[in-house]
Amino acid sequence: MPTIAVVPGSFDPVTLGHIDVIRRATKVFDEVHVLIVHNPDKDALLPMNERVRLMEEALEEAGLSNKATVASYSVGLLVDYCTDVGAKVLVKGIRSQIDVAYETPMVIMNRSLADIETVFLLTDPQHAHVSSSLVREVAALGGDVSPYVPKGVATFLTA
Ligand code: PNS
Repeated sequence: MPTIAVVPGSFDPVTLGHIDVIRRATKVFDEVHVLIVHNPDKDALLPMNERVRLMEEALEEAGLSNKATVASYSVGLLVDYCTDVGAKVLVKGIRSQIDVAYETPMVIMNRSLADIETVFLLTDPQHAHVSSSLVREVAALGGDVSPYVPKGVATFLTA
């Protein structure tokens, strides 16, 4: 049976750190779903349809479009999506202990809710300082975000 993994996140916007984690997940799992989740705790900059479009474009640019599929999820539990598609594993990128602390309750909750395991992939050090929120801030203040995001995202943020 193929091992299906879900890489969830707000991806507001997708960064090169995210793409690196997705690429590495495709090497470990048979099937990878990149799931763009509406997070009600965060005021999103990009509408969901733009996040999906930019993710699809970024995966194409990275040569991953035939290895990972993109979906969006606005209502319901993440574990319900996992159960619906037969995924038993979530993949999260970890940059620091702060990420571990943020993720830990969710890991335990998702396992408690539906026996879904979470695998942490340590972010490549070259992306350790990159986050969607910093990218949004740098772009809003006129900085060059092209070293941190796929080409389509850089174009979108500077348009
Ligand atoms: O990129 P983010 O914003 O850090 O991603 C957070 C996300 C979307 C993975 C998280 O908010 C999440 O898992 N949302 C799904 C809602 C859910 O199932 N909550 C209950 C179990 S933790």
